[in-house]
Amino acid sequence: MKVSVLGYGTVGVGVCSMLEAAEGMELRKVLVRPGKADKPFKVCSIEEICADEETEAVVEVMGGVEPAFSFLSAALRAGKHAVTSNKALVAAKGPELAKLAKENGVGFLFSAACGGAVPFLHNLALAVESDRILSVGGILNGTTNFMLDSMQRRGMDYGEALKEAQALGYAEADPTADVSGLDALRKIMLACAVAYNKLPCEGFSLEGIESVTAADVRHFQSKGLVLRLLVSGGMSEDGRICAYVQPCLLDSSSPEASVLKNFNMAKYRGENSGDIILIGQGAGRYPTASAVLRDLSDLTHGRREMMKDSCERVAADNSFCTCRYYVRLGAGSADALPFAEKERDGELVRGVTERVPVSEMHARVKALRESGEEVFFAAMEG
Ligand SMILES: NC(=O)c1ccc[n+]([C@@H]2O[C@H](COP(=O)([O-])OP(=O)(O)OC[C@H]3O[C@@H](n4cnc5c(N)ncnc54)[C@H](OP(=O)(O)O)[C@@H]3O)[C@@H](O)[C@H]2O)c1
Repeated sequence: MKVSVLGYGTVGVGVCSMLEAAEGMELRKVLVRPGKADKPFKVCSIEEICADEETEAVVEVMGGVEPAFSFLSAALRAGKHAVTSNKALVAAKGPELAKLAKENGVGFLFSAACGGAVPFLHNLALAVESDRILSVGGILNGTTNFMLDSMQRRGMDYGEALKEAQALGYAEADPTADVSGLDALRKIMLACAVAYNKLPCEGFSLEGIESVTAADVRHFQSKGLVLRLLVSGGMSEDGRICAYVQPCLLDSSSPEASVLKNFNMAKYRGENSGDIILIGQGAGRYPTASAVLRDLSDLTHGRREMMKDSCERVAADNSFCTCRYYVRLGAGSADALPFAEKERDGELVRGVTERVPVSEMHARVKALRESGEEVFFAAMEG
């Protein structure tokens, strides 16, 4: 397959070098910004790539929604297959790109956008053909997993763990998208679209790791529990989609607890297959490029679709999923939550609630925070 690449950054360089080494693959052209075309294969206009009759597939690894959307749309209209690692693009414009691909008789795949090297969407897209998917989720943000693991196994506080994640290149200078859970949320949006043909775009429940302290970690470690940031998605019997991100406390013998450093763990449950768990590197030049190459290989074998052209946008509904929650908050606000058990810790209360709908718990904590209360909460199961 002859391939042109849009973007020559971290992932783009990896894709180009893998294409040069891969059997049956050939690199045609690489789109770079004006003034940066210092080699004959580098070009500065998308039109040149669309007009190149030899190019069969276009890989988008620039990031952002625009101009990535316009460029990939032009490539699809020109009859080229499209592959992207760009979760922001697929979350915002996936259904439009799937439709364009179908109309033009070409493929649109985006494995690398969710889980890096972990073949999550690749397997999920295969599984939905023969099984009903009961749930999707897992640990889909390596940065926060690295930070939580550093706090737990190495006794770091939040600031130290973040600094080290930044020094190692796992976290951006502005880490908000990772630590707030937004990056992981975009990935669960894509997994729901693949599993249920519905792309949730609003109504999410989103809690990252910004509220966890070293004292919290010591407290739940003393109880044999491990903290992970988990994403969850699913569909109710009557077709409603749940999609949420929240910290979860798990038994130290659980599969999630064994996911260390910046690794990812993708999980889905099929009605017949039961739990399928995949662990690997969720980011990085070559791990991400390897997922792009896997999609290109899928295209050569005739697999063209991850998201159907009929995929519809829906609001998430997190009222039909319930969890018990571990909570730490000021003792004066303890009555605001339905604790099943609680204990006093100086000026604080720590305890576990009764089972509460996910959307309700997130709303209650939001209201407490708006009134000035500092709260940490984590679901007691995945
Ligand atoms: N890095 C990872 O580990 C990873 C993992 C999974 C998914 N992804 C996704 O992969 C995508 C690329 O990530 P990355 O880390 O490779 O980003 P990056 O290092 O910033 O590379 C992006 C490249 O695209 C170029 N670019 C941006 N807009 C352009 C335009 N209009 N015309 C030509 N070139 C343009 C940039 O050029 P300039 O430098 O001149 O701006 C840069 O070289 C993102 O969507 C990201 O979310 C990344």
